[in-house]
Amino acid sequence: MTPAQTPAGAQPSAPAADTPATDAGAQSSPKSLYGGARNRRVTIRDLAAAKARGEKWPMLTAYDAMTASVFDESGIPVLLVGDSMGNCHLGYDTTVPVTMDEMAFLSAAVVRGTKRSLVVADLPFGSYQEGPTQALRNATRLVKESGVGAIKLEGGQRSLAQTELLVSAGIPVMSHLGLTPQSVNAMGYRVQGRAEQDAHELLRDAKAAQEAGAFAVVLEMVPAALAAEVTAALEVPTVGIGAGADCDAQVLVWTDMAGLTAGKLPRFVKQYAALRETLGGAAKAFADDVTGGGFPQPEHSFT
Ligand code: KIV
Repeated sequence: MTPAQTPAGAQPSAPAADTPATDAGAQSSPKSLYGGARNRRVTIRDLAAAKARGEKWPMLTAYDAMTASVFDESGIPVLLVGDSMGNCHLGYDTTVPVTMDEMAFLSAAVVRGTKRSLVVADLPFGSYQEGPTQALRNATRLVKESGVGAIKLEGGQRSLAQTELLVSAGIPVMSHLGLTPQSVNAMGYRVQGRAEQDAHELLRDAKAAQEAGAFAVVLEMVPAALAAEVTAALEVPTVGIGAGADCDAQVLVWTDMAGLTAGKLPRFVKQYAALRETLGGAAKAFADDVTGGGFPQPEHSFT
């Protein structure tokens, strides 16, 4: 069965173990995670192999099929259907209100828009805090119904039992430490792990998450030196966001990265385009054309 024939949005499994997930025409090396067309999905084994090679890789958020297809075609190996969809896509003030229904719906769209990227979905606030059984029920829904290849959940010690159960059930888990936005009401938005005790706890949590079976650990808004220490201490890759240059991978929220987000951005964001300006300009040009009689022209009309 080819990827195009795979049923109901499920991420197809790797056809041949360790076949590079790139094509011969890609500019990157045949083993590189980044770049190239697809012959199969990226897997968590590919991410482990990249860490062993010392290869860094990019991850972006995605919340819809069209944007996801652009990132997939651009060679981004891992896409996160983050609960940042709350702020960036659904008009909420924080990630806290995001529901399982919203996560399942948008994750399925991202999976449909991709062929190569590993799609990771967040377990939203309230969908795993009750305990491992609740986490397994909701993670299973995202894997079965939406077709994602892995789950992300926030928290160190407090989420270890959930991580263990999901992993034992065959669901790959990405752990999220440091600033955990679902806890904004308790911790605010500030750098985590600056105090010696906090740094010690973060390192302990990262090791515990790896021990529990997590295949990667996101480090959000953590001092660069601490993130480097965690990265060196772990066998699994770290994915940094505001965590310095030494993490194994870097993730950004796509609307921040592409300049679509309005207002002031966090210091750790680098903008690679000015989409808000471009899109607003296109909308204005269209409106001016319609009101001024410049559109449609005969070539846009039928006889
Ligand atoms: O929801 C999200 O976008 C995230 C990333 C910032 C890591 O969790």
